[in-house]
Amino acid sequence: MEFFLDTANLEEIRTAQSWGILDGVTTNPTHVAKEGQDHKALIQEICALVPGPVSVETTTVDAEGMIREAEVFATWAPNVVVKVPITPEGIRAARVLRGKGIPVNVTLVFSLPQALIAAKAGARFVSPFVGRLDDAGTDGMQLVRDICVAFSHYTFETKVLAASLRHPVHIIQSALAGAHVATMPFKVMEQLFKHPLTDIGLERFLADARRLAAELEARKTARV
Ligand code: E4P
Repeated sequence: MEFFLDTANLEEIRTAQSWGILDGVTTNPTHVAKEGQDHKALIQEICALVPGPVSVETTTVDAEGMIREAEVFATWAPNVVVKVPITPEGIRAARVLRGKGIPVNVTLVFSLPQALIAAKAGARFVSPFVGRLDDAGTDGMQLVRDICVAFSHYTFETKVLAASLRHPVHIIQSALAGAHVATMPFKVMEQLFKHPLTDIGLERFLADARRLAAELEARKTARV
């Protein structure tokens, strides 16, 4: 499974990139607004840091507007993927962009039929929003499972990108469901490393190594 960061924060992206496990980034207008920087300059910096796909979201509602935005985004960096919403206009734009060779991530997906439409339009990624479904009192992960099962019956090229993930259990469940990608906040990626037994085990190993070093040093001193 590929790991994407769901952020536009350069510091977070630099840190995750330094770990060597970052496969891509998803941004959205909320993430970009938080950074308070010029959109193009920010995306270009992200794209230079991360060689994998970097999703950049359109902010128009008509297909023509989305296509115009997408054509501009695509000139910013070769690894830009354009995010369009799962609306009839978004799908119209996705079809045209596919024809132009601009990869698309269909976003704001909350149902299996929406995911099927995205796949039929030839989207590179489809993004089911797990956490927001959970917030609405439904089992968001069931949607990821359903999409993965349904897609397995066909030969769609569309990758299932589990989005709106809020905690490590969402990553575990996405992997078990067979999602191709999990995009997550930086805090969640950091949490994936953690296990209390790792901390305890490491502490003991280091203490034992220190004890041996001290013993050897003491023996050396006793000999002279
Ligand atoms: C995905 O592409 C979205 O940017 C993101 O996952 C939304 O997550 P949220 O529901 O936590 O805002």
